Amino acid sequence: MTSNGKYIVYHGLLCPNKCHSYESLKYAEELKVNDDDIFVVTYPKSGTTWMQEILPLILNGGDLTPVKTIPNWDRVPWLEETRTALVLDHQTSPRAMVTHLPYHLMPHSFFSSKAKVIYVTRNPKDVLVSSFYFHKMANFLDDPGTFDEFLDKFLSGQVIFGKWTDHVKSWQNSDLGDRILYVSYEEMVKDLRGVLEHFSCFLGRELSQEALDRIAKHCCFSNMKTNVMSNYSLVPQEILDNSKSSFLRKGIAGDWKNHFSPEQNAKFTAVLKEQSKGEDIKYNWDED
Ligand code: A3P
Repeated sequence: MTSNGKYIVYHGLLCPNKCHSYESLKYAEELKVNDDDIFVVTYPKSGTTWMQEILPLILNGGDLTPVKTIPNWDRVPWLEETRTALVLDHQTSPRAMVTHLPYHLMPHSFFSSKAKVIYVTRNPKDVLVSSFYFHKMANFLDDPGTFDEFLDKFLSGQVIFGKWTDHVKSWQNSDLGDRILYVSYEEMVKDLRGVLEHFSCFLGRELSQEALDRIAKHCCFSNMKTNVMSNYSLVPQEILDNSKSSFLRKGIAGDWKNHFSPEQNAKFTAVLKEQSKGEDIKYNWDED
């Protein structure tokens, strides 16, 4: 591991040193994974915060108390971040965590465990747009520069957690069988209620129709945007500057169309195609 300005370089991946340390990454490597642990895995800006809201509600039968009283980072901690060692021991079973790690960097004991994974993908063009605004408001990240400059950085993987294609490929090629459920951000936008049923079935939780309705209602964008335990307004402005952009910014699919020029779109599509060569990356979103 080396250091590079605002980042730790971990197996070639940039991790912000504001919330990652050598100790926290080592802690993640050596975590004793329990068979009933649940991991939500995302490339950054693909719906992690949304899942930190949904998962506890599914696991507790739709009781809104934790999502209204516990900040999301303590409710469903990031496996690789510095707070996790403090939080995880106090979690009741089953433990729920989020992570941006690629498959091969998961804890050693994860591979022989029965822990389940929900992998959320998002249209990478929307990921790029979301990430661009996030870099403007997150003072612990480098300034993104112009949109065109940031697009190049994103395509070359000079962004947190590396290339989008590497991340998606690593998880799509995982050997987890029925331990992993793939879902897209776009499916969640389109039919959250239906996706919640998939989640509850995958996690072996039977929820009443009424509980599912309550979770879907609570987890809609407008409600989450006003939940101080989830909208990052509790984080000091010098770390996350909500006056520059909200963390819960737009919450839609297809915002890239408001940002990409035809040339940028052509370049992005061509580079992703090249990076995906020989691999069957599953796209669950409309291209146009
Ligand atoms: P936008 O910037 O496009 O609005 P992450 O949590 O992985 O960092 O992802 C953040 C993105 O998920 C942001 O996208 C945020 O608005 C979106 N998001 C969070 N909660 C959401 C919800 N309930 N509905 C739709 N989008 C949501």
